[in-house]
This record gives sequence, structure tokens and C-alpha cells, in this order.
Amino acid sequence: MNIAVVGTGYVGLVSGVCFAEMGNEVTCVDIDARKVESLRDGRLTIYEPGLEVYFDRGRRENRLRFTTDLAEALAPADVVFLALPTPPAEDGSADLQYVLGVADDIGELLAAHPDWGYKVLVDKSTVPVGTARRVTAAVGAYGLEAGKHFDVVSNPEFLREGVAVDDFMKPERVVVGTDSERAAELMTRLYEPFVRSGNPILVMDEASAEMTKYAANAMLATKITFMNEVANLCDRVGADVDKVRRGIGTDSRIGPKFLYAGIGFGGSCFPKDVQALHRTAREEGYSFEILDAVLRVNDEQRKSMVPHIVDALGDNDGRLDGKTIAVWGLAFKPHTDDVREAPAHVLIREFVGLGADVVAFDPEAVETTRAAFEREPLGGTGSLSYAETAYDAAAGADALVVATEWPEFRRPDLARVRQSMAGDGAPLVFDGRNVFDPKHMAGLGFTYRSVGRPSFPAQEVSDRETAA
Ligand SMILES: NC(=O)c1ccc[n+]([C@@H]2O[C@H](COP(=O)([O-])OP(=O)(O)OC[C@H]3O[C@@H](n4cnc5c(N)ncnc54)[C@H](O)[C@@H]3O)[C@@H](O)[C@H]2O)c1
Repeated sequence: MNIAVVGTGYVGLVSGVCFAEMGNEVTCVDIDARKVESLRDGRLTIYEPGLEVYFDRGRRENRLRFTTDLAEALAPADVVFLALPTPPAEDGSADLQYVLGVADDIGELLAAHPDWGYKVLVDKSTVPVGTARRVTAAVGAYGLEAGKHFDVVSNPEFLREGVAVDDFMKPERVVVGTDSERAAELMTRLYEPFVRSGNPILVMDEASAEMTKYAANAMLATKITFMNEVANLCDRVGADVDKVRRGIGTDSRIGPKFLYAGIGFGGSCFPKDVQALHRTAREEGYSFEILDAVLRVNDEQRKSMVPHIVDALGDNDGRLDGKTIAVWGLAFKPHTDDVREAPAHVLIREFVGLGADVVAFDPEAVETTRAAFEREPLGGTGSLSYAETAYDAAAGADALVVATEWPEFRRPDLARVRQSMAGDGAPLVFDGRNVFDPKHMAGLGFTYRSVGRPSFPAQEVSDRETAA
């Protein structure tokens, strides 16, 4: 099949590369000329495990091409995916300017080139209910007839950054929202090779498909937030949220996933999608109470470590001037370089605002962090610098904060970390992802605090003992 993917970001690039891997002819389009040039030159523009092999193969075998020219991709395409940004507008709703703008461009091009034939236009972006109808109207405004010249399908994407290639190649389900049999048939043919193990392709109406994506993300964000609130209560009553997690996760009605307490969710999807669903509800005169709470609690949770750090290190005015804080992890989760809405960034902004000097390390997300803070500079009197390794970041720091659970942070040489940190007492570790064992950390001589788990008094340890 010939496929155009418009928007070559995290979703568009993974989709394009994976469709090409399945033997399709794919052209990815982006308005960002630098991105397109880099991809044409064989340089990936995002970090995503497993992507490179398929990307290289698709390019080598000339099934995967990149362009800034929409017409070039559109002309031969049977199916056109819109994988465009849908960032939050000021009122929290999804900003549809990119999706509707491209729909308009497509309408104009198709009207001018009737010989290009019937196309299926697919909303892969996360978009509110009614968007497929609006895309249909935007294309239809050029005198084109839905069902004859084109059809619009809602095909929300459920991939998770960090395992996006696996998720795309073996989706648990594919949701296809359309009333058109012709479009449903084409989409089914396109996706069948991805669900050979029997996972379903669920064909439904457009509105239900659009709602499915928001409901999924809102449910997951709620699950995380619920567990964070349980953790906050565990802190107060002396229970251990890890034990509670295992206790409830073994109940098949609840399940073990998305029950890990921490310093809140981030990323390019959950915060904006929960906001957008909340907004949709408001527009319909319905107050979706639980989403309001999820957003509020998560905002608080992302900053929940700050008062503890100020308590431990702050001066009488609650400031952190002259203190150095090491931050391990910048990405919003492991195995990605995506830092959109990353809890680490929220913390860094707070620390620098209070005058601290932050030294950060992340295995993949330093460049994206630099770019993010160039776009939205840090205020405050402190500073942010980057270390080459996790150990370099910790060396000389007054406190260490674990903000992302990258595997390499799970079993570092903690004795080395302890010895290199500032001060003579028990160095402070604030573990926002519960990666270390509280007793073990106390035994190693750290003053250790995590989320929803008991703390133990740091033991006195001589350097010789820990080095042994
Ligand atoms: N990132 C995820 O994990 C994920 C998962 C599921 C769904 N989604 C949804 O998919 C959509 C895309 O997300 P993303 O993370 O890939 O965004 P992204 O910002 O990484 O990528 C969007 C791309 O679109 C390009 N673009 C903007 N305007 C364009 C235009 N007129 N023509 C061509 N290209 C244009 C941008 O340059 C950018 O490269 C969003 O709606 C998002 O909510 C994202």
C-alpha cells in the first residue's frame, strides 16, 4: 500500500518506519526542513529503542522517504495519516490548528488534482470527539464528496514512548473509527499483518474511536494518581505503598500495572489529554469531577519533594542559595529523550527558582532538555548544568534527586555515590521513583526519602566499610 504520514514526530516517524518495515511504500512529510534533512541523511531525530534498524532498512530499500512537500506524498498515497501536534490551547482544549490546517491543504490539493483518486485520511493524532467530522468538512469545503473522493477515519495511536516500535508492530488492539465500509476494509488490510497473533481490529464509529483514546489515557492517569494519593497517605500512617501495591495488584480486577507511586506523571500525552477531556466535558455541560482531581493532585505530586528538600537544606527564608542538587533523570520516563511535561523539569524550575545550583544527568535527554529551557528559560538565581555521568552529577552535591527510573540508576555503586557527595554526615537522597530499598539505603549511610515508603535512620558507615 502507498502511505503518506503527515507530521514526522514521535508518532509519525514510528508509524512511518513501521509501516515501511511491513513492506508498504511510505513518504513522511514534515514542515520542519531540518528534521526532514536529517532523516534523509539517515540521522534519526528522536531516541526510540529499536527504531534504527527498521529506519535504516526502509531507507536502504527505498520504501521510506522524507519530504517537506505535502503534494509529493499525497499524490500516490492510498492512505494519509495525520500525526500532527494537538497541544493544549489556553483553555485546556486540544488545539486543532495543525490538524485542520493540513486537512485544508489536502482538500485544496485533491480538488486541484482529481486524477490522484480516492484517499483515506486518517486522524492518528489524539483529537476530541467531532474532529473526524471537522476534517471531513474541511476537505469537503473544496467541493469533494466524502465516500466518493475521500473518507476520514479516526485511528488513535496507543504506542508508548520507550517501547513504541514494539507497541506499533504488535498492538494490543487497533481502533478504527469510521462509518465507511470502503475505508474500514482498507484500514483492516493495512493493519492485518500487525495483529497476526489475534489481537483485535476494532471497527467502530468515529466518535467512539476518538473517545476511546481519551478514556484510555484518562484511566491510566487516574490509576497513577490514585496510587500517588495512597502513597501520600501511607507516608502519614506509616504503611509501605510498595507492599500495598503488591497487595492490590494481585487482584485480577485491579491488575499490577500503573500502580507505581512516584512524583507524578508527565509526558506529551497524559497531562494534555486529561485536560482536553475535562474541557470537552465542560463544553458539554458535564463536570468530569475525577479528572479535575487527577490534574490537581498530579500538579502537587510533581512538586511534593520540594518541601522536604527545603526542610533539609534550606535557610531560614526557605531558600536553597549555595546548595547543589544533583538530578538523575530528565526524560518524563525511561527509554525516551522526550522531556515534555517531565516532572524533572518541574523540579529543576523549583530548585533553580529557590537559588540552588542543579547538576543534571540523563542518558538520552540532555539535548532535548537544553532545547526546552532555551524555549522557556529558567528564572531564579540558581543555575543548571549537565554532567557526563550519573556519578559526576552526584559528586559534590548536597542532595541527590532521582526523577526518572532509568535502569542504570537502579544498581549504581552507591558507596561511590555516598563518598563523593558533599558534607560529612549522611548524604541526602530523594528518590522520586522508589528505585532503591529504604533499609538498604539507610544501611549504606544515606538519609533516604522515597514516596509512600517508611524511612530509616541513616547508619554510621566508615568509608572503608562501604568500599568493601
Ligand atoms: N508521543 C506519543 O507518545 C503519542 C502517543 C499517542 C498519541 N500521540 C498523539 O499523536 C500526535 C502527535 O504527537 P507527537 O508526540 O508525535 O508530536 P510531535 O510534536 O513529536 O510531532 C509532530 C510533528 O508534526 C510536524 N508538523 C507540524 N505542523 C505540520 C504541518 N503543517 N505539516 C507537516 N508536519 C507538521 C512537527 O514539525 C512535528 O515534527 C498528538 O496528537 C499526540 O497527542 C502521541
